[in-house]
Amino acid sequence: MCGIVGYTGPREAYPIIIKGLQRLEYRGYDSTGVALLNHGLHVFKKKGKVAELAETLVGENLHAHIGIGHTRWATHGEPSDRNAHPHTSASGKLAMIHNGIIENYAQLKQELIKKGYTFKSDTDTEVLLNFIEDIRKNNQCNLEEALRIALKRVTGAYVILLIDEDDPETIIAARKGSPLVIGIGKGEHFLGSDASPMLEYTKEVVYVNDYELAIVKPDQLILKNLGNEKITPFVQKLDIELAAIEKGGYDHFMLKEINEQADTVFDCLRGRLDAEKGTITMAGVENNIEKLTKANRIIIIACGTSWHAGLVAEYIFEELCRTPVEVEYASEFRYRNPVVHPGDVIFAISQSGETADTLVAIEKAKQQGAFIFGVVNVVGSSIARTSHAGAYTHAGPEIGVASTKAFTAQLAVLTMVALKIAKQKGTIDEERYMHLLQELHDIPAKIAEVLKSSEKIKLLAEKYKDARDFLYLGRGYNFPVALEGALKLKEISYIHAEGYPAAEMKHGPIALVDESLPVVFVATKDKYHEKVVSNMQEIKARKGRVISVVTEGDDHSASLSESIMPVPAADEIVAPMLSVIPLQLLAYYIGVMKGYDVDKPRNLAKSVTVE
Ligand code: M6R
Repeated sequence: MCGIVGYTGPREAYPIIIKGLQRLEYRGYDSTGVALLNHGLHVFKKKGKVAELAETLVGENLHAHIGIGHTRWATHGEPSDRNAHPHTSASGKLAMIHNGIIENYAQLKQELIKKGYTFKSDTDTEVLLNFIEDIRKNNQCNLEEALRIALKRVTGAYVILLIDEDDPETIIAARKGSPLVIGIGKGEHFLGSDASPMLEYTKEVVYVNDYELAIVKPDQLILKNLGNEKITPFVQKLDIELAAIEKGGYDHFMLKEINEQADTVFDCLRGRLDAEKGTITMAGVENNIEKLTKANRIIIIACGTSWHAGLVAEYIFEELCRTPVEVEYASEFRYRNPVVHPGDVIFAISQSGETADTLVAIEKAKQQGAFIFGVVNVVGSSIARTSHAGAYTHAGPEIGVASTKAFTAQLAVLTMVALKIAKQKGTIDEERYMHLLQELHDIPAKIAEVLKSSEKIKLLAEKYKDARDFLYLGRGYNFPVALEGALKLKEISYIHAEGYPAAEMKHGPIALVDESLPVVFVATKDKYHEKVVSNMQEIKARKGRVISVVTEGDDHSASLSESIMPVPAADEIVAPMLSVIPLQLLAYYIGVMKGYDVDKPRNLAKSVTVE
């Protein structure tokens, strides 16, 4: 969480930083700040979004060739002007921005208070900054050395950018547990939480690793470890176009990303799936086929929407591969004492590849000898790099805080992996295998069909937008889809929604049902369909308002429903990639109609890099 940007070079720094912060706002948006060096340190910061700060700075002298900027997701200290980053040190000479949490900040703060330091904010960042300054003063060392000494005392996660009034060309950066990318231009360098702030200036980037320090000047980049040894930067070429991170005519990134899904799932299958020849090509699976087929157990770890994709995958792996599967919230797994054996395979699913809980859970499983297979969207991200093997989802940048296209791409990847393992293990017969390959192949065209119903779903949003609560129900493969539908609604419309297995409803949630409660059934035709129809009857009998995602032509389910959202027929294994789309659209339109900023829902951030 929190987005950071830095620039040093011949251009004007401020416009690069502000534009970069706008692109990183998905990471947090409760306050914004910029520090510029130009004959002294100039700090501008404010509670609120990037545009609000920019507006207040119109007419200010913002000329500078070096600067750092921050968009915040509050951890320590409420969102306010004084808690906004950058923070300045006691001497007023240093400015710092920080993404992460300094866990032992309270102890460091006490030490500094005893030495007479006072604090202007409630943040852990200001504590770390003064701690660094104090070390520099007491040890008579340079800033880089002081930072290195300080970081050895710090526990927690951080990316920090630091500038010094007395060194007006240099940004010093350090990373542990939060992402940092450095873009290399001609006589200039860019820094960011991801590559989006630098895309129009350079395609050459270096991903900084944990426990590395970067000393960044316009024409020089030095990477070092905490032991002060130089590291050769590994320069990579970015494979993202600018258009991929812009709205492209849509009102919101979320709507753009929902509408991209026919293409993103196609991109995910492209070059991998050949339904005619009956082949799936995935190097990450092929190179590790023995480990994957001989797995005693598969443990899937993820958070949020990625966890829902993991639940669908549980059903798929068990059905096709006959391997026992457990699906774990990374945030629970990491703090338990889980039983993991060397023969276990961990599937770590993450859009961002930076989710702190998932990263730590992976490390924990790794230490116990498990093999880690990452299913990740962001190329070069921490989870991608820490996994033993994996497969990218190739959904392109997902900027809307509510995850949409990442989910369908994750399902496409996980289904292909399961099919490959099942084929190798011999747990699937040839006819079913070929059938499922064809079904997967047909999904992008069917997604395009579902997306055509967008306007009809908008009408449903109008009809149901004032409901106080929603219930989402599904069975089998559609149960995780129900959970995902409820999560989407909660996140962007702030309506209370719960997802349940449809059959579980009678063990409690049915007590909620009355004539005002919309109950969304994910009721596409599958082997549980008759049972789901019975559950619909039960809700209808209690006057609940049944809304159903149904298979086209399913008149019976339609007759039991107050409203329907039809999707094309598909095998139950691939159907979640279709049935989730009306639910994404419903949540989107309700959020918009309620007047909320659906791309930046309150209290949330795209990449959860704190625990
Ligand atoms: O980047 P990840 O897939 O690891 O993120 C996991 C969750 O934080 C994420 O899915 C979150 O729940 C989304 N806001 C859901 O829309």
